[in-house]
Amino acid sequence: MRADTIDTLARSDDGRSFSVADAAGTPVVAGSLVVVADGDARQLALVESRSETEPPVLRGRLLGELVEGRLDTRRSHPFGEARLEPADLDTLDLLHDTTGARLEVGTALTPPGGPARLLAHRFNRHTFWCGQSGSGKTYALGVVLEQLLANTALPIVIFDPNSDFVRIGELDPAASGPAAEALAQRDIRVLRPNVEGAEPLRARFTAMPIASKAAVLRVDPVADREEFNSLLHVREVLESTEFEQIIPQLRDSDDSGRHRLALRLENLGVLDWEVWAGERTAATEVIDQRPDATVLDLGGFSTPEQQLVVALSVLDELWERREERRPVLLVIDEAHNLASPTLDSALAVAVRERLIQIAAEGRKFGLWLLLSTQRPSKIHPGIISQCDNLTLMKMSSPIDLVELGTYFGYAPAELIGRSPWFRQGEALFAGGFVPAPTLVKMNARLTPEGGSDVGVPMR
Ligand SMILES: Nc1ncnc2c1ncn2[C@@H]1O[C@H](COP(=O)(O)OP(=O)(O)OP(=O)(O)O)[C@@H](O)[C@H]1O
Ligand SMILES: [Mg+2]
Repeated sequence: MRADTIDTLARSDDGRSFSVADAAGTPVVAGSLVVVADGDARQLALVESRSETEPPVLRGRLLGELVEGRLDTRRSHPFGEARLEPADLDTLDLLHDTTGARLEVGTALTPPGGPARLLAHRFNRHTFWCGQSGSGKTYALGVVLEQLLANTALPIVIFDPNSDFVRIGELDPAASGPAAEALAQRDIRVLRPNVEGAEPLRARFTAMPIASKAAVLRVDPVADREEFNSLLHVREVLESTEFEQIIPQLRDSDDSGRHRLALRLENLGVLDWEVWAGERTAATEVIDQRPDATVLDLGGFSTPEQQLVVALSVLDELWERREERRPVLLVIDEAHNLASPTLDSALAVAVRERLIQIAAEGRKFGLWLLLSTQRPSKIHPGIISQCDNLTLMKMSSPIDLVELGTYFGYAPAELIGRSPWFRQGEALFAGGFVPAPTLVKMNARLTPEGGSDVGVPMR
């Protein structure tokens, strides 16, 4: 018997899960990687729960067979009585190598500790990222995006409402090593409205689908059928007319639909929005080149509708051209701005509906979402229910944690339940993009944060 063997017996009837009826003799906690050994057969396993009964009962899942220094995650088998041993760091390495977990994002807080690594190739699913304000979501998201940028060729589009990622193309002076060197080579485009010298963040109205144009102008196809119909036919006016002539030309038209459309444009002040591309490059045209990262600095607009216009134009275009199957990861920080079930303006509903569609059907076309927000109820259920990866940071509300548990069955309830005690920068990763559910202390960023917290002025 090995010196570190825990004198505790496990059994598995189905070859998938296992239990330990009496764990009084071992301190093993939920989230621990262990090895179950019956005779010469050894299997890697994850402890998912430890009951508070006397004696305590452990339950967990088998992750694969350990055979001659290899891990076979496609096989696991039942056993009657197996000894439980703690897994060591070499076994953790084996798990990472076998599953292709190479993106190092932090250190594991669950035994045996060591580096926490994610599977880059499993960002081909949707990811939900949740935690209360100040839990460190945006910072930690930056750590993951840096690793994706450094280690993959997956183009990323960041919807950034607080200018948090506008410096992701710069390196922190203290950053060094291969990831930092790789990051320095990446093509990162930061599109900003109203910032002198920056690439502009714009949308092209004429390129938007008719339903989205109608949403911008709040034209209803039935209630406002004349105007909607005119909208179908005014493309040439919008494309060939000098900007300041658009309203006069429509207003002077004999067509009453056009006339009304002119009044609407004027009343809404839509033509005064700084979001329209005109002669300049639109965000969709930049993204079409698939830079390694495109940051959309949505916060700088003078009205919230313009954020929605940019988001809608980008999502529409990617959806419209989905058959091209050019992969892109759409990272949406503060995702409730675009995906909340309570949004009710025509524009916001159009954005949300497009996101629901991408969540449901985008995966096979290479349109993958990563949405970050403070509470699960802030995101439409049709989107959350499509997420296969979860990152949970500190969240104190029991109701929110219960709701999360209902969506993310693959995340052990006991690990979700620890979230109220997380410190800033600590997270639970669960789902396909991590070899096993893991509590993680995130690494430091390699690039500077954009807008950080504002401090209290002191005397
Ligand atoms: N792992 C970390 N190491 C150092 N500083 C951190 C870490 N995580 C967060 N911070 C700092 O804490 C502050 C809040 O973090 P962050 O902005 O990431 O929180 P958040 O969860 O995104 O909050 P909100 O929901 O309000 O956007 C920031 O100033 C950030 O620099
Ligand atoms: Mg944030």
